[in-house]
Amino acid sequence: MPKTTISVIKADVGSFPGHSRTHPKLLEKAAKMLKEQRGKLLIDSFVTHCGDDLELIMTHAHGVDNVNVHKLAWDVFMECTKIAKSMKLYGAGQDMLSDAFSGNVRGLGPGVAEMEFEERGSDPVLIFMADKTEPGAWNFFLYKIFADPFNTAGLVIDPSMHEGFVFEVHDVIKKRRITFKCPEETYTLLSYIGACSRYVIKYVYRKDGIIAASTSTEKLNLTAGRYVGKDDPVMIVRAQSGLPSVGEVIEPFCTPTIVAGWMRGSHHGPFMPVGVCDANMTRFDGPPRCICLGFQICNGELIGPADMFDDVGFDRVRARCNELADMIRNQGPFEPHRLSLEEMEYTTLPGIEKQFRTRWEPIGE
Ligand code: F6R
Ligand code: MG
Ligand code: MG
Repeated sequence: MPKTTISVIKADVGSFPGHSRTHPKLLEKAAKMLKEQRGKLLIDSFVTHCGDDLELIMTHAHGVDNVNVHKLAWDVFMECTKIAKSMKLYGAGQDMLSDAFSGNVRGLGPGVAEMEFEERGSDPVLIFMADKTEPGAWNFFLYKIFADPFNTAGLVIDPSMHEGFVFEVHDVIKKRRITFKCPEETYTLLSYIGACSRYVIKYVYRKDGIIAASTSTEKLNLTAGRYVGKDDPVMIVRAQSGLPSVGEVIEPFCTPTIVAGWMRGSHHGPFMPVGVCDANMTRFDGPPRCICLGFQICNGELIGPADMFDDVGFDRVRARCNELADMIRNQGPFEPHRLSLEEMEYTTLPGIEKQFRTRWEPIGE
């Protein structure tokens, strides 16, 4: 049985107005370039955007980290950058940190989540895409989906999930990884993933090895060595038949969480689940938000999408996120609305420090 690979590769290559949303001309160009590869390099594809991020969803039979698939994504971003530059869109080519492709888009600016699996009798997949936040934003949700029996009834009721799940966590600062088994190592897992700016869940597996989730963990500012904007991560989650159901996967998004990102990548703010029609950044360049597209995978074909957060069931969390936004915005430039000093090091703030370096005088012991 040939395996199917899903590759979700994204980049901000220009937007309008400011960092608000992707221009339809970029979406058209990207969709056309991917469709030309249907039946050749790719089995199927779907193009969308979340805020200023252009999202390429591709299925194929070539496994993860495939040079040709990554090159295709790179070429799409390069062509879209050209269009963005010709229209003087804002931040044209923003995430393209290199002029040349070198075998893999990892480390060159774009974010990547991929997974390869043998299709089950029926394989529902949910693709999450976020803007104005960082990869660790998914930690809370992945924990709730795969390790919290108060969220996922199947952990209690479905015998095939009783053994629990394995979480692969990446330390994005020290570039190392570790795996934790849940439920037995739940507390240790939480002690790391609660620090979402550094410890990020990369993959989740069922204990028998079936892959259940994959995220993008690229940190733009660490890659570039300077402030470029937030990473705006993506995530792929498989559902049903011995994995959490579609409803269990999206249920944690009914809880408003506070994430890092928002204005200038420097503020904490509510993470709002929205339908694709609302995936445009407005208030204070945000608030940070995410979309979720649901597909059935059929021999690599993407059957769908269903716009999962375009539903009245998520109206309440959106209203609560707006209330949180009002509250936290009142704090203006004060922490904890503004990120901690340590995290501000990866923004434009160090420029101020440089400017006033000589004005500081010692005050003695
Ligand atoms: C955050 C983001 C925006 C910009 C802000 C300033 O990820 O994209 O909030 O940081 O609009 O942008 P510049 O510095 O390009 O004027
Ligand atoms: Mg941008
Ligand atoms: Mg963005």
